[in-house]
Amino acid sequence: MIENNAPVVTIDGPGGSGKGTIAGLLARELGWHLLDSGALYRLTALAAINHGVALDDEASLEVLAAHLDVQFLAGDNEGGESGIVLEGEHVESAIRNEEVGISASKIAALPAVRDALMSRQQAFAESPGLIADGRDMGTVVFPDALVKIYLTAGAEERAKRRHMQLQQQGVDVSLGRLLADIHARDERDMHRAVAPLKPADDAIVLDSTKLTIQEVLGRVLDVMCERGVI
Ligand code: DC
Repeated sequence: MIENNAPVVTIDGPGGSGKGTIAGLLARELGWHLLDSGALYRLTALAAINHGVALDDEASLEVLAAHLDVQFLAGDNEGGESGIVLEGEHVESAIRNEEVGISASKIAALPAVRDALMSRQQAFAESPGLIADGRDMGTVVFPDALVKIYLTAGAEERAKRRHMQLQQQGVDVSLGRLLADIHARDERDMHRAVAPLKPADDAIVLDSTKLTIQEVLGRVLDVMCERGVI
């Protein structure tokens, strides 16, 4: 278990809990690295779809995951590009669609896929620090993280947030359909045999159902201050 001695803060939770937003804001505010581990599962799923690999073909998916040709472009240099490039193609929006999300949740249940992505995720822990967003960041990938947050929210609230997000992108999906997808994804993510979604024993559980983004951010920063991380 290598964490390069860089401080790691993990933010786990179900889809739509706001963890991606909070992780991104924290990383930007602190100037730390960001690991969006869900993107790695989504990229593996997209690569499988593109190469015609079945979502239950564990051996082939393991090879795909281990050899993902992906670049995360930070865009921090002047005129520098940002985004995610898979096999030479910009896929930032392609990996965010519902089909890829559901496929990611399916392949994420396969132990060989999770193992193949492990060292790639741990390599993100570099100075000055890492904010790691996912489902098993605090339980499996970074068990020695200094601060572990488990961010949750009611399923209805998560479906409403996703609905609003999709409407802003001009995508018309019914709220009922989104709620059903969220329940199905929660079920798969929480009850799989390997690295199921659950709070680490030493995680701080925050329910964001009735909190604003700024309130959640404030609480996480308070915990980091209390622990002497910042
Ligand atoms: O956070 P997300 O919606 O982008 O994640 C997509 C899927 O990937 C999610 O349904 C479960 C899986 N995942 C996982 O199993 N472990 C992680 N650390 C991150 C995501």
